[in-house]
Amino acid sequence: RQLVAVIPAAGIGKRVGATIPKQYLSILNKTIIEHSLAPFLDLPEIKRVIVSLAENDQWFASLPVAKHPKIETVVGGAERVDSVLAALNKIDSDDYVLVHDAARPCITSGDINKLIHNVKAHQQGAILASKVRDTMKRSDASNSILNTVERDNLWHALTPQMFINQSLMNAIKENKQPEKVTDEASALEMSGLPVNIVEGRSDNLKVTREEDLKLAAFYLSQGEI
Ligand code: CTP
Ligand code: MG
Repeated sequence: RQLVAVIPAAGIGKRVGATIPKQYLSILNKTIIEHSLAPFLDLPEIKRVIVSLAENDQWFASLPVAKHPKIETVVGGAERVDSVLAALNKIDSDDYVLVHDAARPCITSGDINKLIHNVKAHQQGAILASKVRDTMKRSDASNSILNTVERDNLWHALTPQMFINQSLMNAIKENKQPEKVTDEASALEMSGLPVNIVEGRSDNLKVTREEDLKLAAFYLSQGEI
C-alpha cells in the first residue's frame, strides 16, 4: 500500500474575510498552504500529495511548491467533501490516504508519524484530535444555558485523518446526509464503522477566523517544541 496525502484547498475562506482565499495568505514569509504541505512533502513514506483546488484558482501554480515532484492537483467541488472525493478518485483503492486541511499550517511531522503508526498498528482508520479543556455548555436557541456537557471523552477533531482509500470512498459515496460530513471520520461513523482517536497537539489549529492568523503565526515562530 502506498501512502498518499490529500489536501483540500478549494475553499474561499469566507469567515476570514480576506480579499484572497485564506490558504494563500502569508505567515512568516510563506503561504499558509505551503506550511500545511511541508511535512507531507518531507516525509519519505508519503509518495504523492494531491491538492484539491478551486476551478478558478489563480494562486497555487505560481508557488514554488507547485513544481515539487510529489505534487499533483485536481479540481475540487462545492463542499469540502466534494473536494476530498475528487482527489480520492485519483488514488488506488488499496492505498492509505491522509486527508489534511490546507488551512492547518501548524501540523508537525511528529503528529503525522504518530497517526500513521497508530493506523498501521491497529489496522483501523484514525484521526488526530485534542482533548476539550473548557467547561462545555449546551444552550437553547436564545442562548440560555440548558446544561453542562460532560467533558470526559470529548475531543476536538483535527486533521490529518487517515484511512484505507476504499473504506473512505465507500463511506462518502454511501452517505445520505452530505451536509453532516464535515470531516472524513464523520462519513465512516455514519456508516457504523470504527475510527480511532490519536491524541494530537492542540496547536494544530485550523485558520478559520481572522484572529486565528495571529495564533498560527506565533505557533509557527516557535517551531516543533
Ligand atoms: N475546502 C475545499 N473545498 C470546499 C470547501 C473547503 O477544499 N468546497 C477546504 C478549504 O480550502 C480548507 C478546508 O477545506 O483547507 C477546511 O474548510 P474551511 O476551514 O471551512 O475553509 P473554507 O471553506 O475556505 O472557509 P469558510 O468556510 O470560512 O468559507
Ligand atoms: Mg468552509
